[in-house]
Amino acid sequence: MKRIRNFCIIAHIDHGKSTISDRFIQLCGGLSEREMSSQVLDSMDLEKERGITIKAQSVTINYISNKNKEYQLNFIDTPGHVDFSYEVSRSLSACEGALLIVDSVQGVEAQTVSNCHKALDMNLTIIPVLNKIDLPNSNPKKVEKDIEKLVGISVKNSIHCSAKTGKGIKNVLEQIIRDISAPNGNINNDFQALIIDSWFDNYLGVVSLICVKNGILKEKSKIKVMSTNKTYYVEKIGIFTPKRVYKNSLKCGEIGWIICGIRNIIGAPVGDTLASVNSVSEYALPGFKKIKPNIYAGLFTINTNQFDIFRNALEKLSLNDSSLFYEPESSMSLGFGFRCGFLGILHMEIIQARLEREYNIEIISTQPTVVYKIIKTNNDILFLDTPSQFPTANLIKEIQEPIAKCKILLPKKYLGNILSLCSEKRGVQTDVTYYGNQIMLHYSIPMSEIILNFFDQLKSQSSGYASLEYNFESYKTSNMKLLDILINYKKIDSLSLIIHKTQVMIQARIIIEKMKKLIPRHQFDIVIQAIIEKKIVAKSTIKQLRKNVLAKCYGGDVTRKKKLLKKQKLGKKKMKKIGNINIPKEVFLSILKKS
Ligand code: GTP
Repeated sequence: MKRIRNFCIIAHIDHGKSTISDRFIQLCGGLSEREMSSQVLDSMDLEKERGITIKAQSVTINYISNKNKEYQLNFIDTPGHVDFSYEVSRSLSACEGALLIVDSVQGVEAQTVSNCHKALDMNLTIIPVLNKIDLPNSNPKKVEKDIEKLVGISVKNSIHCSAKTGKGIKNVLEQIIRDISAPNGNINNDFQALIIDSWFDNYLGVVSLICVKNGILKEKSKIKVMSTNKTYYVEKIGIFTPKRVYKNSLKCGEIGWIICGIRNIIGAPVGDTLASVNSVSEYALPGFKKIKPNIYAGLFTINTNQFDIFRNALEKLSLNDSSLFYEPESSMSLGFGFRCGFLGILHMEIIQARLEREYNIEIISTQPTVVYKIIKTNNDILFLDTPSQFPTANLIKEIQEPIAKCKILLPKKYLGNILSLCSEKRGVQTDVTYYGNQIMLHYSIPMSEIILNFFDQLKSQSSGYASLEYNFESYKTSNMKLLDILINYKKIDSLSLIIHKTQVMIQARIIIEKMKKLIPRHQFDIVIQAIIEKKIVAKSTIKQLRKNVLAKCYGGDVTRKKKLLKKQKLGKKKMKKIGNINIPKEVFLSILKKS
């Protein structure tokens, strides 16, 4: 155990986590040259395409130090996007140290600062690593100053490296074995391990990534999941190198995988404790906070025949993603679907893309909303995430909306832009701290404003330099209104929205105009109305059109006619028929987004 080091990597998106991890693996011979050809830690296709790490994964490597001693290094990769920051805390609880990787051109970002503070709270040793020093505009000395000021740690032992050229990578490994302490459990105690992650494998069933905190886990032994009190026989155990390698035991301090005949992922909850069968409940580890979705949206199939495939697909996806929530929902306009909960917009987009790509399901998603707290006139309290289920105005005493505590880190010169953006988003400034050229703004901003496109706007208002970190803070009374959309005098429940009073009129007009542009002309007039508390606040008509796709095609060329008709059919496929009106799928999601 003296020669084990468990660490994770804290870094902002694109600062080089995956490339550095790959270098470690290469240096320690975990994979052949050919296997190294693509980045190994980001294994999902979609992750590769979007270039972001979503699922934390672990890798065990054996490192021979400069003093010729062999060490077992276990490192856990963590996601870099703000939507997935909760996965970082999971990784931290299995480690004694963390590498803080900062791009020496870009500098420190808000989310990195907050993750470092989490690591410091958990008494982890942090090693600052300044990456990308091969780039001509790299400025590690300046970035070191920022780390000292913003994170509040010493950079005396920081390392400058380039994951691209490999320079300095060995120094990082040497520092890990020197500065990070070995795990401190007791091998003679009863077995006890923390579940860091669980996922469903089509061939193996539920696989869990665990960190053994005490004792030894042996193949064929009997263990218990502490929260459920259910017992299982250990079928197979092993480590990732990053390939899956079998072992007959996992010892105190080691991080590895376990398969023990658990059929459903709910049976192996992340943050739970595995322990010897006779363990008493006090032997459970603290675990982590259960993650709750920040936003909810309705997901429906365009083609109603695909409903069963859709349900199976969601079931499968949620097996690997404990933060994905779903329950059946039926909408008058869109039929049967699911109300799904996500961590943020990126999470939602990823799930939607996976449904479309991996399962071939065409999805319509409604506008995502946060969870509102409603106090009714009879003092009942409701938590609602579906606008169409809001009680009528006369039954509502008060609507409260979730507020996010935000930290925004930005270079001084963008302060003006960002201050106006925050006030436009109904933000309230709570604090501001200057660190040389950088500023940390503390704001309370309604969650509904954050989830729309705040992050993108923040980036574009600061040429990509401002960064954001946010957490739920509290519920606050707010003047929210329910906006209904009527098409040909029929309310389309899936288009209802909750909007702040100050934005009602402007938004209603923007939405109506957008719909007018997006909905194709039909062979009859279409009237679109926006209604608040029974009052029409905006209205527009799409004039009728008699469209004949064959008009251009005089003469009798049958194949050409067929081709045109087929093309029109394909075009129609992406629409949802509501009554006798075709509505393009974009309408449901894009109406509130600024174009
Ligand atoms: P996420 O997985 O999304 O969190 O990103 P990441 O932090 O893992 O970043 P990744 O390793 O994918 O690197 C991002 C980009 O920077 C890639 O295009 C890398 O090739 C490049 N990169 C990484 N390290 C270096 C370096 O030392 N020098 C240079 N020039 N480029 C680098």
